[in-house]
Parts: sequence; structure tokens; C-alpha cells
Amino acid sequence: MPTTPHSGREFFAGLLEAFTGVLGLARGYLRSHGPRSGHLARQLGAHLGCSPAEIGRLVFGGVLADVGMIGMAEEAWEVPMPMLDARTRARVRRHPDRSQAILCAVPHLECLGPIVRHHHEWWDGTGYPDGLSGEAIPVESRILRVADTVSALQAARPHRGPLSPEDIRFAVRRATGEEFDPRVAEAFLHLADSNRLAEFDEAAFQRWILHASTTLVPPSIAPPSAGELLEILAAVVDAKDPYTAGHSRRVALLAGEMARQLGLDRELREQVWAGGYLHDVGKLGVPLRILAKPDRLDEDEMARVRDHAGMGADVLSTIPSLAHLAPAARHHHEHWDGSGYPDGLARDEIPLVARVLAVADAYDAMTTSRAYRGSLGHAHAVEEIAREAGRQFDPELARVFLTLPGTIFHALVQPVRWRPDSFLGSPGGGAVQTLLSP
Ligand SMILES: [Fe+2]
Ligand SMILES: [Fe+2]
Ligand SMILES: [Fe+2]
Repeated sequence: MPTTPHSGREFFAGLLEAFTGVLGLARGYLRSHGPRSGHLARQLGAHLGCSPAEIGRLVFGGVLADVGMIGMAEEAWEVPMPMLDARTRARVRRHPDRSQAILCAVPHLECLGPIVRHHHEWWDGTGYPDGLSGEAIPVESRILRVADTVSALQAARPHRGPLSPEDIRFAVRRATGEEFDPRVAEAFLHLADSNRLAEFDEAAFQRWILHASTTLVPPSIAPPSAGELLEILAAVVDAKDPYTAGHSRRVALLAGEMARQLGLDRELREQVWAGGYLHDVGKLGVPLRILAKPDRLDEDEMARVRDHAGMGADVLSTIPSLAHLAPAARHHHEHWDGSGYPDGLARDEIPLVARVLAVADAYDAMTTSRAYRGSLGHAHAVEEIAREAGRQFDPELARVFLTLPGTIFHALVQPVRWRPDSFLGSPGGGAVQTLLSP
């Protein structure tokens, strides 16, 4: 689909595609929940006379409202709210806040912050997180409340099948004036009763996303946007595991610096850097109770953790703008001597990008605290990498790692936002191009 990689519209279409792929990995049925909400919200907005800018926000808001759910306890996706224990329920109630925090960090999507924050407020003031009521709730949030509910009821969940159109209309009518703004609920009932709601169609929705992008972002996006896309996806991935905040970014920084020292060409440097950000994307498919378990994992649980490499590659290969990073994700846990996973590749059989990532990944894993142990410290990690050269790691790459300038390790712990494109040299937008070309 992308024809002009520098177009802001296509960049954001790529971003949404990546987000839905990532959400789908966290929970299969979420692949279509967001787009279906956005699809319905757009139609409700048009019927209610919303402006083009409001409609643009409805499309994006529908897709992204639940992005903050990633990293919540698993049962929160599966079990109806009243049946959750108090602690899990409290976490679910924080998801709009997290969605807001994530989206406010994305340039041009800040305007979605208040809308996603309030997408669970109820018309009668009994919703969350702020207990707003009536007109105090942004109109887009009131529309999303109806669209989100209808989209959820239309789909099967682990504990129930999809509801019939009659049952959905009944549910909306019953909650009018309580959960739903009466004007929005009436718009839905009117369109549904008169058979004027368009069926969801993926291709048509992609066109609407492109259209909505024109109201949210300028036509041309500055080159660092590729870095920002990766920052944001990586933040979502790292949010899953409370122990790995910032892990993906640090791996990108270290591996990117190794690629530079190695004198790799620009395309490979970009793959190393972007691969650093996304190598663990498959962790979204590993149950949280395993990722955050403080005790030793049993055989089964270990196998589930190992699955993250293949699952990450699978999801990346379905996202056109990121498919070229799939091999790096698949093979970042292979060992030079063939004893790694998932395929037991050895030496040059392992893609170079994955071999670079393996060293940076191991360093960061050793120097950060995990559920089952504290940080092992810089000196220990460096010793370990030297010792494993030629066994776990490509010996040449281990050597390059050991000669990295100390400033790089210092930069890892800096709170300032690192601008990843800068190490690529000329800010000509090559990264954007590579990321967005299938
Ligand atoms: Fe939600
Ligand atoms: Fe990994
Ligand atoms: Fe990792």
C-alpha cells in the first residue's frame, strides 16, 4: 500500500497497523476489536454531525483506546469486570490512564489523550477514571463508549459467544442515560434499526485511517518519526513485564553502537537499531504470570518463554512496514555454538543482525533486576561476555562489544530521551523509508 514513504498519512497508517498487530499478539481477538470500534465510532460521529477533525480522532481513538491494557493481568482481558478480584479490577480501571500516557508520547497523537482517558466514563457519572458525567465527558469519548461496547458484544469472548443484533440493541437501549449519552445511543439505535450501519471491511477501514490521518498530522513527517514509532512500540512491549522497562531501547542503543563500530552499511545499521527495539515483541504473547514469576520456571513455563522469539517473528512478518525485522526477532536467542533457540542455528547460519542483538540483549539482561534476581552489575556482565565469546556469542562481535566506549554505558542510564536516528548520521529519512517500504 505505501507509495510515498515520506507521507505522514502513510506513516500513521503504518503505526496503526503495527499497533493492531501488537495488540492482537497480546490477545487474539483484540486484533479486530479496536478497528471495529473505530469503524462504528466514525459512522456515529458522521451521523451526529461531528467535524472532520473529530471524526479523525474517533477513528484513531477507537483503534488505540485499549492500548494501555497491555501489561494488565491476563484475566482482565477474559473475565467480565464484576467477576474480577478487587486488585485486578483496580488495575483495569487504570488502563485509560495508561492509554493516555502512551499516546501523549506520540507526536501528533497527543490530541487523543483526553479522549482515550475518558472512554470508560459513564453519562451518569459512575464510570472511570475521573467520574465525569454528561457534557463534561468529551463528545468523542461518549461516542467511543457506545462503539466500544457494541464492538465487544459483537465478538466472541472466551466466556461467551457473540451477541445477536437484537440483543445488542436491547443492551444499548437498557443502558441509555446511565452508561450512554442518550443522543449517541439514539444515533446508534436509529442507524441499526434502519439497517444503515456498514459492515466492517478491512480494506475500507484502511482507507478511512489514511483519511483520518490527514486531519491529525501534517502531510510530511520529519525523519525522526521512525524512531518515535519504535520508541512507542517498544514502550508498549516493555510495559508488559514490570522488570523490563526500557530494555528494548537500551538494546537498540547498545546494538546500534556495535553496528556503527563494525562499520555495517546503513541498511544493516537500521535493522540492528530497529530490531533492538522490537526483538522481544513476542513477549506480549507470553502470560504475565510466567514473565513476572519470582521463582524458578518449570519446563513448561520455560518453553512458553522461549516461544516469544518465534511469536515475535510471526507478528512482525504480518506488518508490512516491519516484516524485514522478523529474522532478527526469531534468532536473537540463538548461540554461536548452536545451543540456543528456537532453531539451534550456529555461527554464520544465524543472521548477523540477530548475532549483534544477542550480545547487547545479554548485557542488558544481566545488568537489570529481574523478577528472580537483582542486577549482576556491569563488571560481571562484561566478564561474562568475554567468557562466552565463541560459545554463546560470535567472538568477533563480543570483541567489538568489549571495546565500546564507556560513554555508551553512561548514556544507557540517562533519563533523557535518546534520539535513535542520530547515530545513523545524515538525518535524511532513510530510516523512515526502510521502515515503511514492504
Ligand atoms: Fe477500554
Ligand atoms: Fe528475548
Ligand atoms: Fe531481550
